[in-house]
Amino acid sequence: MLKDKFVVLGVTGGIAAYKSVELVRLLKKSGAQVQVIMTKSGCEFVTPLTFQVLSQNPVITDMFKEPPRWEVEHVALADKADIFLIAPATANVIAKMAAGIADDMLTTTLLATKAKIIVVPSMNVNMYENPITQRNIATLRKFGIFVLEPEEGDLACGYSGKGRFPEPRIIVEHIKVILGKDGDLKDKRFLITAGPTREPIDPVRFITNHSSGKMGYALAEKAIQRGARVILISGPTNLTPPIGLEEFICINTAEEMYNAVMKYYADVDVVIKSAAVADYAPEEIKHKKIKKQGLNLTLELKKNPDILQELGNKKETQVLIGFAAETDNVTANAQDKLKRKNLDFIVVNDLTEAGAGFAGDTNIVKILHRDGRIESLPKMLKRDLANEILDRVLLYLQ
Ligand code: CTP
Repeated sequence: MLKDKFVVLGVTGGIAAYKSVELVRLLKKSGAQVQVIMTKSGCEFVTPLTFQVLSQNPVITDMFKEPPRWEVEHVALADKADIFLIAPATANVIAKMAAGIADDMLTTTLLATKAKIIVVPSMNVNMYENPITQRNIATLRKFGIFVLEPEEGDLACGYSGKGRFPEPRIIVEHIKVILGKDGDLKDKRFLITAGPTREPIDPVRFITNHSSGKMGYALAEKAIQRGARVILISGPTNLTPPIGLEEFICINTAEEMYNAVMKYYADVDVVIKSAAVADYAPEEIKHKKIKKQGLNLTLELKKNPDILQELGNKKETQVLIGFAAETDNVTANAQDKLKRKNLDFIVVNDLTEAGAGFAGDTNIVKILHRDGRIESLPKMLKRDLANEILDRVLLYLQ
């Protein structure tokens, strides 16, 4: 997403300037071109040379010294930028931006740019919470500037509270979300389910499956980065939810997933059911731990609601996509589900193939369409597969 994007990074005078060094490295790694502008106080914390080496570009520090043709440089940079990042942003630069002050290279270029601007505040908690700073931040937001929320924690000034610079990796994720806002799925509403369900047997045991949630989380992340508004309903996983979700709902059982899906499905354009829902749950949840007794133990199971099937029955205009994990008669079984659940397409993986299935980062799938077409996709990363699936969703949305 960041490949060949031109990022102008303004570094102002805060201790978190050292973390922006890592930010430049990550941006370059993602394929972006980076041009750093440092304020005078920014240069007190980290030398321009450090940013110059990592960005592979001369750093602009002084309006009247570098580069020699300063009189057009701030406009040229302002025009060239795809994204304008101020990280770290001090209370001072935020105040200047809110007032429209242009008294150095950074603030002058900022005022001239039409690029998306992202501000990453980092300062002492009291400075951050000061109503003047809060008013200034609100002003920036009113003008369409994205201001990230600082994190809470220990601050360099010895205080603890809100004001910490987020991890550079998180900032890069935010940039991708903001850049993607005008993407091909702009404002389309997605409901995505992910992960396993967990059906309790007694206070210490449950029935579940090997689903990692990786496919559903990748779908949510990529849809957001193409401009979609995404609600993610997830069973228990070890994953961090993607940045930019509209809602993140954690459930345990199939019944909880059913209730959450039914609550939201009517307002969405697309439902992708990548969750591995348990088909059966214990008839009765024991309130006390089941103790060992004899050689055999019989558990009575009852059928869970088939969420996707019910959505298929109700279907009007929505695009409905299912997943299937099979071990035999792969295509025939998937075709049956496609019809029975009234889906637009189903993504099926053969669990017996190496590189396909639950835990790994890759998958090998077939996509079966409602018109009978079958596409066989090669082994690929789940993240790339997510984009392949979304490309097809787009066709059904048009
Ligand atoms: N699914 C669902 N609710 C269930 C079971 C499955 O919504 N109670 C959805 C899954 O999220 C998936 C699709 O249905 O998108 C296929 O799931 P699968 O369990 O393979 O389908 P079943 O119809 O239960 O078929 P099988 O006989 O293979 O268990």
